[in-house]
Amino acid sequence: MKIFVTGGAGFIGSAVARYIINNTSDQIIVLDALTYAGNLDSLTSVKDSAHYSFEKVNICDQQALDNLFEQYAPDAVMHLAAESHVDRSIDGPAAFIETNIVGTYTLLEATRRYWNGLSAEKKSAFRFHHISTDEVYGDLEGTDDFFTETTPYAPSSPYSASKASSDHLVRAWHRTYKLPVIVTNCSNNYGPYHFPEKLIPLIILNALEGKSLPVYGQGTQIRDWLYVEDHARALYKVVTEGKVGETYNIGGHNERKNIDVVKTICSLLNELVPAKPQGVADYADLITYVTDRPGHDLRYAIDASKIERELGWTPEETFESGIRKTVEWYLANEAWWSRVKDGSYAGERLGLSE
Ligand SMILES: NC(=O)c1ccc[n+]([C@@H]2O[C@H](COP(=O)([O-])OP(=O)(O)OC[C@H]3O[C@@H](n4cnc5c(N)ncnc54)[C@H](O)[C@@H]3O)[C@@H](O)[C@H]2O)c1
Repeated sequence: MKIFVTGGAGFIGSAVARYIINNTSDQIIVLDALTYAGNLDSLTSVKDSAHYSFEKVNICDQQALDNLFEQYAPDAVMHLAAESHVDRSIDGPAAFIETNIVGTYTLLEATRRYWNGLSAEKKSAFRFHHISTDEVYGDLEGTDDFFTETTPYAPSSPYSASKASSDHLVRAWHRTYKLPVIVTNCSNNYGPYHFPEKLIPLIILNALEGKSLPVYGQGTQIRDWLYVEDHARALYKVVTEGKVGETYNIGGHNERKNIDVVKTICSLLNELVPAKPQGVADYADLITYVTDRPGHDLRYAIDASKIERELGWTPEETFESGIRKTVEWYLANEAWWSRVKDGSYAGERLGLSE
């Protein structure tokens, strides 16, 4: 297969590209605008593969997309390009409306024009796989509830509202135009190559520098953590074996309070980096509680039984094994994150929010 991976220079998209190139004979074409979140360093290990191509393109650019469909004639689109950081969506929602809604619409239309011109056989084999989030479901109050594929949408932030809109567009393009789409909604990812504005890498890197470890509210928000390489494997299963028109929820079966995630990272660092910054006896001493994010969702938890039952996918990492691998990866890959921190990586240099 020839697969377009939009957002393939981002955190999850680059994991998908690396997974497919390392484990299959498929060809990957990464389409990415290289915003601040796009980083070609995350693709260094595959960039010399004959199965890899990169195109710098904005998914809002209809003409450029049409040209790329004509040039490559892909068999599938895995759509991950998005503005993805909730805090940024609160400070400036416009880019989220533009990329997540208008961009998804533009990509759907370019895909539809291309797909309409395919032979009957290629048309039915084609897939448009939209990668979305569990945040479209809002949050859960009870500790026994889980998001299923039929949970009603109730997004809380500009980010999740824009992703919910894009999910609706994708499903409408299936219902109205018969475009062969599949949607996946996943929980919080973590792992290697995660941009250091997100909780887990931010905590690791701040701790190493002896900076404060900011925790929203009392840190009681619960997230279901999914190791990014487990997610990449799930996405490939869905695009190759999933049923057209279906939605699959993907989760890690790893619910943790944010404060417990932070404390786990601190104890791993106490073990792995005993030479602490000056004045720090335990990395956990750096924890600082900060004013909670407005509209902050309390608990997300995914019921991932459908993808397990129908496609035979389960996560391989527990939170304990995945977080250890993640901390070890950041300790071994200062060359990657120092170029993000000093702005010399390939994305637009918009600075980091800390
Ligand atoms: N990270 C998570 O925990 C998580 C959880 C659930 C769902 N998701 C979804 O998965 C997808 C990937 O998330 P991520 O964490 O890898 O995001 P990311 O922010 O790390 O990467 C996004 C990528 O999209 C690119 N991009 C942004 N705007 C673009 C545009 N207009 N045109 C082309 N490229 C553009 C960026 O350059 C970047 O490479 C997103 O759709 C996100 O909503 C992420």
